[in-house]
Amino acid sequence: MSANALTLDRVHRGDCLDLMGRLADGTAQLAFADPPFNIGYDYDTYDDRLAANDYLAWSKRWMAEVHRVLAANGTFWLAIGDEYAAELKVLATRELGFTCRSWVVWYYTFGVNCKQKFSRSHAHLFHFVKDPTNFTFNVDAIRVPSARELVYGDKRANAKGRLPDDTWILRPQDLPEGFAADGDTWYFPRVCGTFKERSGWHGCQMPEQLLGRIIRSSSLPGDVVIDPFGGSGTTLAVAKKLGRRFVGCELSEQYAQRIEERLASIEPGDPLDGAPEPLKSAPATADGRRLDRSTPRRPRRRFKATSDPQPTLFETEKPAR
Ligand SMILES: C[S@@+](CC[C@H](N)C(=O)[O-])C[C@H]1O[C@@H](n2cnc3c(N)ncnc32)[C@H](O)[C@@H]1O
Repeated sequence: MSANALTLDRVHRGDCLDLMGRLADGTAQLAFADPPFNIGYDYDTYDDRLAANDYLAWSKRWMAEVHRVLAANGTFWLAIGDEYAAELKVLATRELGFTCRSWVVWYYTFGVNCKQKFSRSHAHLFHFVKDPTNFTFNVDAIRVPSARELVYGDKRANAKGRLPDDTWILRPQDLPEGFAADGDTWYFPRVCGTFKERSGWHGCQMPEQLLGRIIRSSSLPGDVVIDPFGGSGTTLAVAKKLGRRFVGCELSEQYAQRIEERLASIEPGDPLDGAPEPLKSAPATADGRRLDRSTPRRPRRRFKATSDPQPTLFETEKPAR
């Protein structure tokens, strides 16, 4: 079977199991999958209400195909909700042979407003690799400013920044032009209906910046990125903007058509939608944030145990390593 049994750089309409079956072993360096969560979400074609065992059996089949089409140094990112996160992680690691590098929690502040339980404000992003000794992880492509540098102005801070934590946060202040004042209900951890970047036709659209971090960290320019569940096409759009090759699958004729239109409207090198990092929402300190290094820094306050019997945590906190 040739590697291009499916044409690269486009979305293919159909069932991802059939479509991936046409790809040669080891075709892709990165797979990102955001499957239906089996929670009764209203897609135009797919019925998101399988019996639990059927959903798990189906998940095992498509994840096995992902494993097969990934290169030996390949990476698989899986987005999943609470309902099946634990079971799919066990399937991926214990039964299919993936190694979990990180269990990322994606926290978003505008969650469902629940009345009799805590409102959900997160989804799970599993970072799996095929071979824990051989995988792509581009540290320098995803560094973020450290508190040591940004808040404390500490000269010992790595000027290139630090690796992000495994909780990824999306707040209104991080997408200042994205949220409308009445945007306090967000059905799902996706692109809110009031976000400007929302394409407006798929309820599960993910923010481009989230896929940007995943694709930048886990693939190289020219690598092949596969998304079995295209949706609104975010993975494919970001892969194209970042100079990766890509293959998308999407069951729905209508969604696939809209993805094609989205892909046709962008070019490699285009900027990703949304604010890249929460630079503007770092907490203020007594010294204020010192983004402008020409501004002289106020001398750091020193505590004497006798004169300051109860310093606050913040005032005594040492910058994290
Ligand atoms: C959660 S959405 C993906 C959203 C996407 N990550 C985005 O940012 O727009 C899941 C998509 O998978 C599609 N789908 C469901 N079953 C499928 C299958 N067997 N093969 C291919 N696509 C499928 C649905 O139509 C839906 O558009």
